[in-house]
Amino acid sequence: MYRVIQWGTGAVGTEMMTAILDHLDDLQLIGAKVYSEDKGGIDIGTLAGRAPIGVPATTDADAILALEADCVLYTPRTARVDEVCALLASGKNVATTAFMFHPQRMQAADRDRVLAACEAGASSVHGSGINPGNLSGVLPLALSGMSRTIDKITLQERADWSVYESTGITFDNMAFGQPVDAISPTATEFLAFNSSIFAEQVWFIGDSLGAQLDEVTATVEAVAAQEDHQIFDHLLRAGTTAGQRWNWAGMRDGVPLVEIETLWTVGGEYPRHWPSPQHGWTLTIEGDPSMRTHFLSLASFSRAASMEEHVRSANVATAMQVLNAVPAVCAAPPGFATTATLPLIRSRAGFSAQP
Ligand SMILES: NC(=O)c1ccc[n+]([C@@H]2O[C@H](COP(=O)([O-])OP(=O)(O)OC[C@H]3O[C@@H](n4cnc5c(N)ncnc54)[C@H](OP(=O)(O)O)[C@@H]3O)[C@@H](O)[C@H]2O)c1
Repeated sequence: MYRVIQWGTGAVGTEMMTAILDHLDDLQLIGAKVYSEDKGGIDIGTLAGRAPIGVPATTDADAILALEADCVLYTPRTARVDEVCALLASGKNVATTAFMFHPQRMQAADRDRVLAACEAGASSVHGSGINPGNLSGVLPLALSGMSRTIDKITLQERADWSVYESTGITFDNMAFGQPVDAISPTATEFLAFNSSIFAEQVWFIGDSLGAQLDEVTATVEAVAAQEDHQIFDHLLRAGTTAGQRWNWAGMRDGVPLVEIETLWTVGGEYPRHWPSPQHGWTLTIEGDPSMRTHFLSLASFSRAASMEEHVRSANVATAMQVLNAVPAVCAAPPGFATTATLPLIRSRAGFSAQP
């Protein structure tokens, strides 16, 4: 039995909690850290939309630190190295969707702090998800097993965020709805952080496949909305940012060898001059041989499902990639456990939901 704590009960965290309660008998939820005062004291089962389990959530980080647990599922909106260090030093492993994807290219001071905490607590930390995660950290390596040589790897992510209910991330963190000249890789602490984690993925692919990159560049083009759009509780005004095309390019001798590009919109207006891959993720390996694969997650390809369910499927995928890794993270030696060093993570519940 693994005793786990959910740190952050938003869209992704909730998918983890329901998966544990519904499908994973060998994981026991023994605590949850929440930020909203109105969630404090509420039973974790109730928060997840399930029967009460007799464990209340808490806003008190120290109360969580004092618990004995095997692993913390760390899914807050804004991730903090010092929080994770405290968890690791207290002897808890950490599995997160937020950061720590490619420690080799983290800021050295942060990496050293995390390693010292792992050492102190004999614990390990793993960052993954869908992207960053499986699609940038597992799939390119898996496909490269069929490559003789590689010239270039490109991962494109096309998504319209209008259907993404985490509007705090869309508008507060990602700055959609702000003036277009307010968007840059260094404009805010969050945009810089977000840019750094995608740059880290470019480094990850390059480092894992011997690209010997000199640098990873980050650029963004912000595009203004032509008209107003109501996005859940938020009004996106015409003239403010409704499109962000980010590009992170891993360069060697001035040539891009690895690129991650995001084609993100809110409100459904799609700039005509942007490339138009299918919605979802398109991974292209140019080389011998050249390969392309397209990834899309939906609630179902066979039964009717609401848009809300379809959108949630990406949160399920993000959550499960990390939740399915818990035993491997707990078994890993102290320090960083990455998508390159852990064994291939596979579904643990598998076909067990079949009637
Ligand atoms: N790797 C990937 O592929 C991937 C994909 C999607 C998301 N993510 C990451 O996963 C994390 C969770 O995403 P999400 O979609 O679940 O977000 P979300 O629905 O917006 O949930 C946000 C969570 O943050 C908490 N929160 C509220 N105020 C906060 C604050 N001041 N500081 C820190 N946390 C605060 C909320 O607390 P309560 O528990 O009180 O509600 C909630 O648990 C984010 O870091 C996101 O970037 C990664």
